[in-house]
Amino acid sequence: MNDETVFRPGLKGVILAESDVCLIDGEQGVLRYRGYDILDLAEHSSYEETTFLLLEGRLPTRAELDDFSAELREQRPLSAEELDALRALPAGSTPMDALRTMISAVGGSDARAEAMDETENRRKARRAIAVVPTILAAYHRLRENQAPVAPSDELGHAADFLYMMTGETPDDTSARVFDVCLVLHADHGFNASTFAARVAASTLADLYSAMTAAVSTLKGPLHGGANARVLQMLEQIADVDRVRETIESMLANDERIWGMGHRVYKTKDPRAKVLESLIDELASARGESRLYRVAKEVESVGTELLGEKGIYPNVDFYSGVCYHMLGIPTDLFTPIFAMGRAGGWATHVLEQYAANTLIRPRARYTGPEHVDYVPIGQR
Ligand code: COA
Repeated sequence: MNDETVFRPGLKGVILAESDVCLIDGEQGVLRYRGYDILDLAEHSSYEETTFLLLEGRLPTRAELDDFSAELREQRPLSAEELDALRALPAGSTPMDALRTMISAVGGSDARAEAMDETENRRKARRAIAVVPTILAAYHRLRENQAPVAPSDELGHAADFLYMMTGETPDDTSARVFDVCLVLHADHGFNASTFAARVAASTLADLYSAMTAAVSTLKGPLHGGANARVLQMLEQIADVDRVRETIESMLANDERIWGMGHRVYKTKDPRAKVLESLIDELASARGESRLYRVAKEVESVGTELLGEKGIYPNVDFYSGVCYHMLGIPTDLFTPIFAMGRAGGWATHVLEQYAANTLIRPRARYTGPEHVDYVPIGQR
């Protein structure tokens, strides 16, 4: 069998391209963006600085960071036409549906969406990253029968989302914790949604189209949808004393323990460790979370029963508890993942354009070799 006919279901272990964006060591539990360790970025960086790092491949100077942050702020508002599109969404749309439709609509209202030179693509990247929080906060307020809050001229990316969602400037702890959450989610190599973005980009579709494909792909519960499932699972368990029996019965029924297991990590996800420390910080500021205690017990029982298969908590395991403690509704958890990952998606789309090869795998055909056509009247 030559390389052209290797069959790898789910592309497990397949190296698709060269990339200098993200290093993941799944055995050691290491994650680095452009060589910088996620633990250092979580401690010292901001979402704006991390996004600059991803897009430009280096940390910004103070002046560069100020300019970049100012440009993101300028790119945040939705036009009246875009707000009308948001209002016109069917009532049953989830926030992920709204985001998917609206990234596409923002592309539709960008007169230079199809311009493919590097300057234009970088401009579109900044617009797409900047507008995600505005879309989500405005959608959330509209469905609560409240008027959207316009973006602030002063707040950072993370704090501004919390402000637009609630209409109140967040306290420093909430703003910082949420900022770290976005940093933790900003990139993760060739995950399914980034891969989808790169597939779209490889056809030379515009950046908004590629980001729309990414949002669609993030939605599923095996990827970004897991964080909301984790919270539902923890709320159903409700009590530390019920953890063991529930987990054992879920596994006996072949159910997944949400937020555990990862295609790449075979140890605890480093982002889950950071999230735990953020939850500790929130808990000491505003009282212990019952759900956090349940989550710790699920981790302990889940790891005991699944650890030998290399299944440990992933980023989604603790992010939901963290967002819950920040007062964020459960159906915004996956969109928040998208808010952080927007920086990574845009970076990967630019990297794909820069050294493009059309991504087009093949299937192993398992259907009949040849079937004679039978006219409809003779069937
Ligand atoms: N709970 C219970 N069993 C799990 C599991 C989980 N969360 N994740 C994997 N497994 C088991 C599978 O049942 C399978 O067992 P088997 O070999 O006895 O059949 C084995 O571990 C390998 O799982 P598989 O689904 O083939 O691995 P994958 O690399 O394709 O899957 C995930 C990775 C992330 C899809 C998977 O771990 C999962 O579904 N996790 C829960 C969803 C989640 O949290 N997603 C967010 C990822 S960041």
